[in-house]
Amino acid sequence: MIVTIDGPAGAGKSSAARLLARRLGFDFLDTGAMYRAVTLQGLRCNCNFTNETDLAKLLADVRLELPGDRVLLNDEDISALIRTPEITAASGPVASSKVVRTKLVEWQRQIADGRDIVCEGRDQGTIAFPRAECKFFLFADPVERARRRHRELEANGQTISFAEVLQAQQARDTRDAARDIAPMVAAVDAIKLDSTQYTLDEVVDKMERIVRERIPRCEPTSDGRTPSRSRVQL
Ligand code: DC
Repeated sequence: MIVTIDGPAGAGKSSAARLLARRLGFDFLDTGAMYRAVTLQGLRCNCNFTNETDLAKLLADVRLELPGDRVLLNDEDISALIRTPEITAASGPVASSKVVRTKLVEWQRQIADGRDIVCEGRDQGTIAFPRAECKFFLFADPVERARRRHRELEANGQTISFAEVLQAQQARDTRDAARDIAPMVAAVDAIKLDSTQYTLDEVVDKMERIVRERIPRCEPTSDGRTPSRSRVQL
């Protein structure tokens, strides 16, 4: 079963997706980390992010693994290196590239194949997994989102003003929503959740209830056989 969580930066997607996956016993895929990893590799190689041929060459030398909460780029643990404002800012052009998006969506589908998984990003319910069994679009008031992000950066020891965080977030929202390829929009069949007034646990409680209602049950058919398609038994 595939559950997708899309939405703008700072709405709490990653935390919600991680916790939801843990409660359900599902795997978790942070697709933003994949764009960040490609961005880091590109910066290291002085890649021209506006040149699709350069980006295609870059991707040929990228091997990503996402064990647990870690991100490995060609066997190097880059989990902390990709969570900086520099990578956040530089990831925009990378995420707007057709060649990058095509490859990363292909990898995301390979990872999710045959698994029970919660996938988090901007295009998971629209492009990567349009037939996902359960889709959420998580959003929140922009000032509250920037406040959360600012707290997170400070907790990681980074010095940046709240105004800078808010400004960078606004620029990112506009860019993510306006780009030609895979713009950040809610899938028509996504359940929209506003996290502004709610704690993480409250948001995930709601999501968990909805997902559990949709998990296929392994009930015997009228002839007494168990349908073979159902993989999950509650
Ligand atoms: O969610 P995040 O901040 O870690 O995402 C990093 C970058 O990747 C950001 O520019 C948005 C982009 N992104 C995307 O375009 N599509 C996704 N599915 C995930 C992230």
